[in-house]
Parts: sequence; structure tokens; C-alpha cells
Amino acid sequence: MKTYKELPNDAGSNIIGQVTAQANRLQKRLASIKHTVAIMSGKGGVGKSSLTANLATALTRKGNAVGVVDADINGPTLAKMMGVRKATLVYSQVGVKPAITPLGTKLISMDLLLAEDDAPVLWNAHTQKDAFTWRSTMEVGALREFIADTEWGQLDYLLLDLPPGTDRLPNVAELIPNLGGVVVVTIPSEVSQLIVKKSVTMARDILKVPIIGVVENMAFYVCQHCGEEEPLFSTEGALDSTLQQAILGGIPFDPRLARANDNGTPYLDEYPDAPASKALMQVAEKIQAFFEGEDLHAPPVGAVS
Ligand SMILES: Nc1ncnc2c1ncn2[C@@H]1O[C@H](COP(=O)(O)OP(=O)(O)OP(=O)(O)O)[C@@H](O)[C@H]1O
Ligand SMILES: [Mg+2]
Repeated sequence: MKTYKELPNDAGSNIIGQVTAQANRLQKRLASIKHTVAIMSGKGGVGKSSLTANLATALTRKGNAVGVVDADINGPTLAKMMGVRKATLVYSQVGVKPAITPLGTKLISMDLLLAEDDAPVLWNAHTQKDAFTWRSTMEVGALREFIADTEWGQLDYLLLDLPPGTDRLPNVAELIPNLGGVVVVTIPSEVSQLIVKKSVTMARDILKVPIIGVVENMAFYVCQHCGEEEPLFSTEGALDSTLQQAILGGIPFDPRLARANDNGTPYLDEYPDAPASKALMQVAEKIQAFFEGEDLHAPPVGAVS
């Protein structure tokens, strides 16, 4: 077998040409997207995907053209949450047509490429050890293709649902140099806040990506009998001050939201008057206001600093 050093030039693969063509496609695609927003959290299971799906619906309801990239390549959940798991992807010369919800929100997800429910994402390599070594590179490649090769059309918003952790944000910031900002999700527990503060530092201080704000998910529970708000987590204090300064809103826990996510039905349409629906709509409004140039976290006029 010849090593790559023994091959003449690029052995006919035109690798540079391929990479340049894809970089150009990515740039062209991003040029027709007004705002890109990454939804992230250092912590797993705090509701990033639920928030992404519902914000996508909220922003679409408000008249925006919205696309969603399920950037959780190994644990994709958005096709289910957005009710499009049965969609068939259609390929054309100009790219892949994304799945489209009845409301018109577009989605691309690894889940739409997997044949069976129980099929994990496996990367092709000579050995699984090789696959493990290259996994991160291949995942970034998949993400690049999701953005560059999907027929998004003109979009007002492209939302990216990131996997748990902070390690994907640098890749996303590199792929999307004009990333509009990040929404950081936490739950009230101190354990979550401890990790989520690190995500804020990573985005704001290290990558210099704008923080649109923090969403406190499962902030409280509304008793369905008496309407009283009860804490869901036994936190002694309020939200950590670093996170509080950037807060966009608190979304209550609602079992009906969990069920809507499982069923892939639009919670915001089913329960428009529920406190969680109102809170989700408010967060969507704040995201819009952020891109309209409003300073969301300025102290109120007359506040003593
Ligand atoms: N406010 C809420 N009220 C009720 N259920 C919720 C709420 N937010 C999220 N859930 C449910 O909690 C579970 C975890 O949410 P989700 O999958 O969105 O978390 P995640 O942060 O994306 O997880 P992962 O880190 O694995 O990607 C899901 O079953 C979801 O439907
Ligand atoms: Mg998720």
C-alpha cells in the first residue's frame, strides 16, 4: 500500500478544489441568512432542544423565515420534537431540501438520515479506533455540510441546537464567522449554574461571540389546580449574579410541554395561554429586539449601580 507521501500531488482527488468549493458554498449560503443563533449549555438535559424547537415556532409565528440545524450530530432530537421524523430528504443539484413543519419552519438533522430508530451514528473508518480519532473532524464536516448544502432559501433566523458541553462552540464560531450570538440555557440548580457559567466565559471572553442572553428553564412549576408558582429545584438563593445580569427569561416546567416535545406537536399553538408559552414568546421577542439593536441588559433608567 502506498503512503500519502508516495502519491503524486493529490493523486487526482483535487482535494484543494473540493475544500475551496465547499467553503464558497458555505459563504454563499450564509449570505442569505440574516441572523444565526446558537443555543448552548455546558450542561446536558437542561432543555436546549426544547427551547430551540419552541423558539423556532415562536419566531416563525412572528412572521420570520426560520431554519434550524440540529447540531447535536450524535444525539439528534429535533426531528421528533418538531414532528417531522417521517420527512424524506430530497436531493437536487443545488442541495438537500430540508424537512418543513406545517408552519413552515425548516429543519436539517442527522436523525433524518438514519434509517432506523435504534441506529446510532457511526463514522466510517478502517477501525472503530480510527473512527474515534477522527470523530470530531467528521462531526464538524457534517455540520459544515448541514449548513452549506441545505437549500435554506432566504432566512431571517438560523437556529443551531448544540450538543451539551462547550467544545462545539469554537467549531461553530469558525464555520460561521458572523455568528449573531448565543443563547445559554440553564436550570436553577447550583450544579447546572456552575457549569453554565463556564459556557458564558467560553463564548464571551474566549471566542468573543455575543451573548444574547441566558434562559432559565424549568425555573418554577405552576400548580395546575391552584395556579400557585412552586420552585422545582431546592435552590436557596436566586440565580447566580453573572447569569442573572444576562437573563432573557424563565420558562416554567410544564408536563404538557414535555408531552408536546415527545409528540412533535406545537405546544405554543396548543396552549397559547400557558405561562410557559408566554415566557417562550417573550424570549423570542427579546431575541428579535437584540438583533434590532436594543440593549437587553442595560440597567433600568434610574437604577442605582
Ligand atoms: N420547561 C419544560 N417543561 C417540561 N419539560 C421540559 C421543559 N424543558 C425541557 N423539557 C423536557 O426535558 C427533557 C430534556 O430536554 P431537552 O432534550 O430539550 O434537553 P437538552 O438540553 O437538549 O438535552 P441534551 O443535553 O441531551 O441535548 C425533554 O424530555 C424535554 O421535553
Ligand atoms: Mg438536546
